[in-house]
Amino acid sequence: MKRKILVTSALPYANGSIHLGHLVEYIQTDIWVRFQKMRGHECHYVCADDTHGTPIMLRAQKENTTPEQLIERMHTEHLSDFTQFNIEFDSYYSTNSEENRILAETIFARLSAANLIKIRQVEQFYDPEENMFLPDRFIKGECPKCHAKDQYGDSCEICGSAYDPIELIKPRSAISGVTPVRKSSEHYFLGLSECATFLKGYATETHLQPEAAHKMKEWFEQGLKDWDISRDAPYFGFKIPGTEDKYFYVWLDAPIGYMASFMNLAKRLSLDFSEYWDPGSQTELYHFIGKDILYFHALFWPATLHYAGFRTPTQIFAHGFLTVDGEKMSKSRGTFITARSFLDHFNPETLRYYFASKLSDHIEDIDLNFENFISRINSDLVGKFVNIASRASGLIHKFFNGKLAAHLKDSSLLETLSNASSSIIAAYEGREYNRAIREIMQLTDLVNLYIDNNKPWILAKSKDSNNQLHEVLTVAINAFRLLTLYLKPVLPEMAKKIEQFLQIPPLSFKDSHTYLLNHSIAPYEHLIQRIEANKISQLLQANKENLTPQTQHDSKKKAIPSISIEDFQRLDLKVAQVVKAETVDGSNRLLKLTLDIGSSKKTVFSGIRSFYTPESLVGRLVVVVNNLEAKKMRFGTSEGMILAAGDQDIFLISPDTGAKPGMKIQ
Ligand code: 2FM
Ligand code: ZN
Repeated sequence: MKRKILVTSALPYANGSIHLGHLVEYIQTDIWVRFQKMRGHECHYVCADDTHGTPIMLRAQKENTTPEQLIERMHTEHLSDFTQFNIEFDSYYSTNSEENRILAETIFARLSAANLIKIRQVEQFYDPEENMFLPDRFIKGECPKCHAKDQYGDSCEICGSAYDPIELIKPRSAISGVTPVRKSSEHYFLGLSECATFLKGYATETHLQPEAAHKMKEWFEQGLKDWDISRDAPYFGFKIPGTEDKYFYVWLDAPIGYMASFMNLAKRLSLDFSEYWDPGSQTELYHFIGKDILYFHALFWPATLHYAGFRTPTQIFAHGFLTVDGEKMSKSRGTFITARSFLDHFNPETLRYYFASKLSDHIEDIDLNFENFISRINSDLVGKFVNIASRASGLIHKFFNGKLAAHLKDSSLLETLSNASSSIIAAYEGREYNRAIREIMQLTDLVNLYIDNNKPWILAKSKDSNNQLHEVLTVAINAFRLLTLYLKPVLPEMAKKIEQFLQIPPLSFKDSHTYLLNHSIAPYEHLIQRIEANKISQLLQANKENLTPQTQHDSKKKAIPSISIEDFQRLDLKVAQVVKAETVDGSNRLLKLTLDIGSSKKTVFSGIRSFYTPESLVGRLVVVVNNLEAKKMRFGTSEGMILAAGDQDIFLISPDTGAKPGMKIQ
């Protein structure tokens, strides 16, 4: 049965460049869409730039341009990056479009008619110099809990506590630097609490991954809060009809951008918009998203759609974050790699292949480990896959004029490959790309073994074995064709070149049980280059951003008073070894570390979760302030502090190799 499928990826903000973290999702989605198309289904892949909100407005001001000009420039840049990574949208649109405005207004009107829009007074920080309300991220100050300076208005990067911006000590506007004042204004809310029964029915494993459905239960237990969907002027976005100075919050019109992008496509292709968006629709709708925006997609969005009289998503597929060599991407380490700089150094399909080999249907983070990246590409793609064609093609041309045999005596290897199609199809369908790649590589090993066992280079030495040689080479080329078909969702560009080499029309999954016989192929042309290790350091270097040194940054602040040696000796600094590192439920920032300090063990909570994975810390030596007063936190008691440098990025301090846990630092 031909399915009708609409697929989306999250809309990237129009104020930043595409980086490898983004690409995990677009590559994941693009592979799935290509796979569905190769299965013969009608599948549409839509996306857009997410163009509204305060950061975009401020960035345009800073660049002395208009938001419209800024978003137009970013649209071109984003689309060019995606295209070069062979991410093929059917529509890549903008949330600042007429379709989106009309849809947002319609949805708002229908939600109002359903009595779900509430008006309430909200008190917020206001910058009297800039004459604007300040979003949480544009307020900085001292953490009300641990007194760390320079923390954002919503949460502390050091102790992990979340708070209301009005709790911040000595708050200041991150835009003008002045002390903000408290001011109240009318806001529009979506009455989410009234949608609880519907949402509890919706947000289950039918529509979500098991981990996500579990998370939902926690959120339901905490209770659903109404959602503030308006922002005051000045704001770059859509004005709320009937108001003078209220705008839809960017997150209200962003997911509506999925519909707007599709509406634009529907016009172009004469598709029926309502067939995809009406309640009871028989078409399928899937959203690929990052785990950080699950709340928006599994709660706000289905509620918005349902109560505005539209269909809800068939499923929401969340993925984890990207780490690089086990750590959070970092500008100063050069691991915050932009799409553009990756393209300057590597073939984009190498990243598609690597991500595919890592991606599963779970929400877990995936790691880009450069050693593993090099070996995957050099050993799997260059050494195993492409090698089949380069080995067979020369002999086919030399002895058989480029023509494959008309019959095969023994096609058992090809049958094995053909029969694997159902399992590979199931793996792609279920987003278990890592399993698909593993199975395809096992088949590739079988093909190489077949060539090694049949030794065509020996058969080529005697005229008597001519038929056998022809058979072996024909099997090898056919096997290569089937492997290409299986890899095509991941490596579309390479597959296209191979289709030219094999002189065949575009491969699709219905070709998995047919063979090429009595057929001429073109001479082999180089398909992919080995990756040299030095290219990695060049890539990191190109992405390294010099952060303002701390001293310069601090020069305006008060000088730090000097201390006596006795003062210093009051500190009991010790070498410690991390024996256990765990994430802390309910905190995005903290890791719970168990430290061996020689004679005893200690528990320390440290705000480094965004910078280090727990696994990368186990066994590592660190420096601990051993006699720091124990501090009771929401998650347990912290019995010390480990030392690290930096503020935006964190670099743990470690002694030289050879130091032992418990050694005193002096
Ligand atoms: O988190 C983000 O990057 C948002 N721009 C995603 C929006 S997805 C959708 F809802 F529009
Ligand atoms: Zn704090």
